[in-house]
Formats: sequence, C-alpha cells, structure tokens
Amino acid sequence: MTRQGISGMALLPTPLTPAPRLATALGLTGPLWVKRDDLTGFAVAGNKARQLELLVEDARARGADVLVTGGTLGSNFVQAAAAAAAWAGLGCVLVLAGPPVPRSAHPNLAAATAWGAEVRFTDDLDRTTVDAQLPVVAAELTAAGCRPYVVPRGGASPVGAEGYRLAVDEVLAQLDGQAPVVVIAAGAGGTLAGLVAGNVALGRPLRIVGASVSRPPAEVSARVLELACQVADRRGEPRPVESDVELVDARGPGHGVASPAGDAAAALALRAAGLVLDPVYTAKALAALPAAAGGQPALFWHTGGLLDAIAGLMGGDG
Ligand SMILES: Cc1ncc(COP(=O)(O)O)c(C=O)c1O
Repeated sequence: MTRQGISGMALLPTPLTPAPRLATALGLTGPLWVKRDDLTGFAVAGNKARQLELLVEDARARGADVLVTGGTLGSNFVQAAAAAAAWAGLGCVLVLAGPPVPRSAHPNLAAATAWGAEVRFTDDLDRTTVDAQLPVVAAELTAAGCRPYVVPRGGASPVGAEGYRLAVDEVLAQLDGQAPVVVIAAGAGGTLAGLVAGNVALGRPLRIVGASVSRPPAEVSARVLELACQVADRRGEPRPVESDVELVDARGPGHGVASPAGDAAAALALRAAGLVLDPVYTAKALAALPAAAGGQPALFWHTGGLLDAIAGLMGGDG
C-alpha cells in the first residue's frame, strides 16, 4: 500500500484488473483492463479521494478550518468533500445548485449531511450560481472568524488535479510497458487534467480519451488544458499542448440524465465483470470506450459514483 499525500486518505495503488469477458461483451477485439478507482478506499469517494487527499492537506497547511465547496444535488464530489473534511478535522459548508430539498432527496446529499456538512442552496438550478456563491460564503465565514478553504466544483483546482498527475506513475508501473488507450469520464475536468499532465511529464506513453458527460468537449478541453498546464507548472514539468487533450462527447441526452447507451454498458459491466457503474459518469464513459479505443487495447478507468448508481437503481429521480 502506498500513499501519495502525507494525509494518507486514499488506499493506493488501486487494482488494475483484466476484464476479458467485458471486452468480449463490448465487442472489443483487443484486451481490456479496468483501473479500479471505485476502490480508492476512503468513504464513497471514488476518483475524488485522490484529489481530496491533496486538497485537505493543502487546506491544513494553510491553516484553514473549514472547507467550502459545492455542486449539483447528486454530486459525488460534495459528498466526498464532506467526508474528507470530517476526516481532516475541518468544518464543511456545501453550496448546492437549486431550491432546498430534504436530505433524503439523494444518497449523496444524505451522506454529506450525515458526515456533518452544513448544506446551503442557491435556489437556482444553474450550476454557475454555485461558483458565484462560493466566495460569498467564504467572505461570510471569514467575517465570522473562520478560515475557509474554497474548492471549486469537482475539485478542479491545480492542487486537486495533481492527484491524477501522480496516478499516472501508478498505472504505468502496473501496465509494465503495455500502452492501452485510456478512457475516463470527464466532468469538471480535474481528473483528466491530472492524467494529461502526468502523461506529458512521462513522455506521452499513453493515449488518454476523456468522455465528456457534462459539457461540450470544446468547452471542457480548454479548461482541461489550462489546469494540466497549471499542474505541470507546480511541478516544474513540461507543459501539455492542445493535442494532448482528447475528448469525445458522451453526454447523450444531457448532464445528469441517463443515456440508453450508458444503461446498456452498465448492464454489461455488471453481468460480465461485476462492476457497478453510475448512470451520470462511468456508464457513459464505458459506452464511449469501443469507438474511442478504435480496435486498440483499452483501459477503462473506473471513477466510482456508487451512491449515484444506487440513486439510479432507485429510479433515477433521486
Ligand atoms: C463518478 C465520477 N466519475 C468521474 C467524474 C469526473 O471527474 P472530474 O470532475 O474531475 O472531471 C466525477 C466527478 O464528479 C465523478 O463523480
């Protein structure tokens, strides 16, 4: 077991497992591996454990006493942030887009509340209202004598993204010279940005494709490139360029809405490999994998989303 941050929150490395039956079920001709970041070993954090480990470490190093972040009602990240803050001994204030709802409205909200976070609502479903509220909440907390540490939606800051820069060292050691096409869900983009930064730092051994589930690929790729360059700058490593960021449109009917292709991929993953995929991120990413891999050996990077998978099983309406 290794630890990438001094906080030692995530249990790393996560397994890299071959999935031959799933490869056949998906109609792939080459081998398929699954990187099990649904098993990062902290709360129900999935991919967000790698980011939050570094974020809470940074928050503590800066003397902060309360983590302030936000997202949508079903956000895995806010749930994971609440757990990380509790674990690190920090307070947590979450800003959610939309009108107030009871904690039972979504398992991620129920968990975040159970882990001690204070939840506020923007009264507007537009996700950018969260971005506008975060500094307002931070200023209010500062005025009340607290020391807030603000994290953007999805943990998509250079510090958070660095968690996935470090994950590239981990996966390359596991792949032992093999170079599959990596397919991973991209939302806010911090996860993909870290992978891109790591791939470039280590000489571009991999092709990495982000399955954009939240925004049009062109919008995400600019953000991913900017973040990846910030990660590289922090570490004094070579900066990625535009061609290092590859994204496909995996939104289907829209962000947060299950797609028929995703549902079909999730059913195959469960039956052929025992993998639980959520309808918002991982199912759509797996559905995009066969076309993205283009007949090459492939690696599906499982990013978690277990509570959203449960919400989907319960009817998808939270
Ligand atoms: C299960 C899951 N997979 C993938 C992602 C995408 O990560 P990012 O927002 O860093 O692009 C998220 C983000 O919330 C997620 O919850």
